Amino acid sequence: MTEDSLWLPVAAAADLPAGGLLPVRALGRDIVVWRTASGVLAAAHDRCPHRGTPLSMGRVCDEDLVCPYHGWAFAPQGRCTRIPSMARAPLGERQALSLVVVREHLGMVWVRFGATAHHAPLLAHPPAITPPAGPGIRQVICGPYTVNTSFGRVIENFLDIAHFGFVHPGTLGDAGHTLITDYTVTDPSPASGLEGVDVRVWQPRSNLNADRGAQVRYRYQVVSPWVALLEKCPEGWQDFAEMVVMLALPVEPTLTRVWFILAMSAGDRTDAEMRAFQEGIFGEDRGILEAQRPAQLPLDPDTEVSCAADRLSLAYREYLRRLPVNFGTLIQTPPLSGG
Ligand code: FES
Ligand SMILES: [Fe+2]
Repeated sequence: MTEDSLWLPVAAAADLPAGGLLPVRALGRDIVVWRTASGVLAAAHDRCPHRGTPLSMGRVCDEDLVCPYHGWAFAPQGRCTRIPSMARAPLGERQALSLVVVREHLGMVWVRFGATAHHAPLLAHPPAITPPAGPGIRQVICGPYTVNTSFGRVIENFLDIAHFGFVHPGTLGDAGHTLITDYTVTDPSPASGLEGVDVRVWQPRSNLNADRGAQVRYRYQVVSPWVALLEKCPEGWQDFAEMVVMLALPVEPTLTRVWFILAMSAGDRTDAEMRAFQEGIFGEDRGILEAQRPAQLPLDPDTEVSCAADRLSLAYREYLRRLPVNFGTLIQTPPLSGG
């Protein structure tokens, strides 16, 4: 399935120091991600080949991951290196771990379950995103936040412009400025995603350093089903850059873990202040997100009633349909009581 060919953000790299391990649930499956003492990153299905114990209950010992039940040890390449109950153990393919491809990118750990889909060669690598860099620009990762809904509802909310005045009054929106002017959305492509440009909204406090309202210009980009970014700048601000990347890991069809990568001209604001601003905004979205029904994102454009301001979210749904992504989405119209 398409989902197996796409990279999944599963942890902040800083949360996995040398010698550490993390249990991860992604696309309804359990994996263990670990880093050896010398820093080699590895991931495998979270089940010992011996008696099915979760390896995430074990520990990293030097260069090996050691099962907590009978102490079988495994190298980061998956090979079983030791069976303590046997003097001369057969250590071959049958005793090896079932590995998952893992990579570090943008300060995050990414995994992929399967091979790259032939129609999406650009997705062979974790998303190519270039956060702004330079003097005065700081990059911070926030999260994870666990949200009781599908990844699609979460990403769509990130792309939604018309809710600002109602959900984020005083910062991103204002009840007196709810009109959404025309903006452009590119045709969604399974290989390269989609883009929304020339999005303009009036915001009372568009970022941490804003002390007055301004017209703000946005560019949105969806780079994978669960990774989207925005770049925005209040009109007239010189030498200011801000990018917010949302990473939404589909844990279960209606359970999602979210991180943000913030890269912005932060002035003398601290990392903690940057995180607090973003958390405040996302905290305002959470109640709506967890209450929406169906929780899985309906992809049929006739299932919910849309208006012109929704064209970015409609393009996102079409993108998911074209890939297609089935996990956490509804291709068919659900019954009215559907969850
Ligand atoms: S179950 Fe893992 S070593 Fe026995
Ligand atoms: Fe929001």
